[in-house]
Amino acid sequence: MYIEDLSKYEGQDVELQGWVANKRDSKGLVFIVLRDGTGMAQCIADINSVGEASFEEAKSLGLESSVRLLGKVVKDERQVGGFELHVTELSVYQNTENYPISKKEHGVDFLMDHRHLWLRSSRQWAIMRIRNTISFAIHQFFQKRGFVQMDAPLFTGNACEGTTNLFETDFYGAPAYLSQSGQLYGEAMAMAMGRIYTFGPTFRAEKSKTRRHLSEFWMIEPEMAFHDIFQNMDLIEDFLQEVVSAVVANCPKELEMIGRDTEILKKISQPFPRLTYDEAVRIIKGEQDVNGKNSIRTLEEDLAKVKSRIAEVEQEIAEREEKIKTPGMKKGEIAFNQTKIDNLKSELRDLQEDERNIPQWLESARNFEYGNDFGGSDETVITRLFEVPIMVYNWPHAVKAFYLKRDPENEAFARGVDVLAPEGYGEIVGGGERETDEEKVKAKIIEHELPMQEFEWYLDLRRFGSVPHSGFGLGLERLVAWVCKLPHVRETIPFPRMYGRLFP
Ligand code: 4AD
Ligand code: MG
Repeated sequence: MYIEDLSKYEGQDVELQGWVANKRDSKGLVFIVLRDGTGMAQCIADINSVGEASFEEAKSLGLESSVRLLGKVVKDERQVGGFELHVTELSVYQNTENYPISKKEHGVDFLMDHRHLWLRSSRQWAIMRIRNTISFAIHQFFQKRGFVQMDAPLFTGNACEGTTNLFETDFYGAPAYLSQSGQLYGEAMAMAMGRIYTFGPTFRAEKSKTRRHLSEFWMIEPEMAFHDIFQNMDLIEDFLQEVVSAVVANCPKELEMIGRDTEILKKISQPFPRLTYDEAVRIIKGEQDVNGKNSIRTLEEDLAKVKSRIAEVEQEIAEREEKIKTPGMKKGEIAFNQTKIDNLKSELRDLQEDERNIPQWLESARNFEYGNDFGGSDETVITRLFEVPIMVYNWPHAVKAFYLKRDPENEAFARGVDVLAPEGYGEIVGGGERETDEEKVKAKIIEHELPMQEFEWYLDLRRFGSVPHSGFGLGLERLVAWVCKLPHVRETIPFPRMYGRLFP
């Protein structure tokens, strides 16, 4: 019996097992907010129904105590979930004291150190359920279309995405690397199965702290024989539309809990603008507008708005702090003002971060050098102008991976595509059409100073039945971060691994 099923048992006696997420008592009643993993429900222990001993025990329960409750299911629209339990019997697995995470605001480092417990909070619960919905929708998308799921090796001998961020391990005395991407193996499998996808962990040593980088992240990499870059982009668009729509359809409660505005997610069904690298660069530099919006002017206006809001917030904080010093003020009113102050301070921290960031974005947009890859701030600048993901294709070949096909119309470009999520999120997908010409792949292997010998097997794919083919890689955590509008990828995975974080 789980809380999510309570509505089916109105008027009946049921047994619930779970943890005490919240508790208060007043005159012969104890109100327990119970959570059991499927949801939360208010459970009321009345001294007249449970008896004095159980009542005292209920009253003594600390946060996160584990219990079993028997009682009757009663409809009450005002309560979380719309139903409550009128308890008749209570037994305690463990009465817990001093649960470290309280209702008051904790710093991020503290919460990260207590990740094993933080996962129980309602916000983390909602994010993990959305992640689960996304994973399931991804499998459904590919399985429905006849793609075969493949598991690529995690110990690899060759670098797929450059040699600078490899994790080296000792493989029986020889060096091996943790996989950065399953793509090269995916290409081999696509020549055997037609269309495949991987869904597995990938590893990159990213020795810097950013809101988009993890050292261990989950990637979904489809690879399709007989697909060119345009068919690849069609598939990416269908894929993201279907997966995000599944979240909107199946997770309304979770999205509401984290305060996500779903209007923007519903726009996912509109076509994704497809921009060439050249167009995207003009937009970043403010030389081309998007629906009347100019990148540079928008940033300047945003900065002005941020500054004036900072002044307002600072003033309101000062006024309220002065006010609660008034002698004789009621406890309730002080608490009310203190909550307001805490919220304003948290808003102020976000505003101050914007105040620091926007001038850097402006600087980097104005000075963007044609021919470079996009940095995080360039992606932020361009995606703030759009409400749906955009696809940027035809990149200068020199800044992209060795395996991408040269554009037959202009050899200076490669047929890569990056999908950038809106609202400032940036790259969530990287992919493209693969080079099929053995000599061109070899030239790129040499240019990237990769060991030719170790790529012989990969070159075989160009020697025996080489066909046009394409694929892409979605970073699961990046997608979850955007869908949930989180400030950082660390909350998108149960136990993040990143620079400076290996525990818990
Ligand atoms: O753009 P990337 O490096 O592309 C590849 O790995 C290709 N082999 C994919 C393919 O064509 N089969 O990485 C793909 C995606 C990025 O767009 C990003 O979403 C995610 O993986 N990603 C990361 N996510 C979190 N932390 C990191 N350090 C990431 N690096 C890449
Ligand atoms: Mg990329």
